[in-house]
Amino acid sequence: MTPRPSRAVCPGSYDPVTAGHLDVVERAAALHDEVVVALLHNPAKAGTFTVDERLGFVERAVAALGLSDRVRVEAFAGRLLVDVCRDVGATVVVKGLRGSTDFEYELPMAFMNRHLTGIETVFVPGDPALGHVSSSLVKEVARYGGDVTDLVPDDVRDALVARLRAGG
Ligand code: PNS
Repeated sequence: MTPRPSRAVCPGSYDPVTAGHLDVVERAAALHDEVVVALLHNPAKAGTFTVDERLGFVERAVAALGLSDRVRVEAFAGRLLVDVCRDVGATVVVKGLRGSTDFEYELPMAFMNRHLTGIETVFVPGDPALGHVSSSLVKEVARYGGDVTDLVPDDVRDALVARLRAGG
């Protein structure tokens, strides 16, 4: 009998995707046959980028990593992560940890998700060189004219400059 492929979910709002997110997606893809990058968003909340823009950024970045055959990107509006995992047939959530603050934030969510459906969360230590990288900090730096090259893909950097310069 052929074993079922292992499928993991990497959840986030990806507004926008950063080098830190992509580091975690690569690590998840090294550990699992298939990865679903689940872009979870609240339809009542406007982000910096539209869901379609965010999806495009992640899809192009995944293609640039040569992972498009095993990593797919999907958006989900107003859904619980555990329901998304069930719908896509994933048995594990993969999250990156930049440090102890992330762990403190993530642990109650991992407990809650396991309480809800039994799904496990696997934490992977992120690249320490990217420990300072988050979507919100990247946006702040870009907003005030700082250089975010190497922290986000080039198309995201260009879009951030255009969007935030326009007052977004
Ligand atoms: O990139 P973010 O903003 O840190 O991602 C947070 C996200 C989307 C992963 C988290 O808010 C989430 O899982 N939202 C889905 C709603 C849900 O399941 N909430 C209960 C989690 S205990």
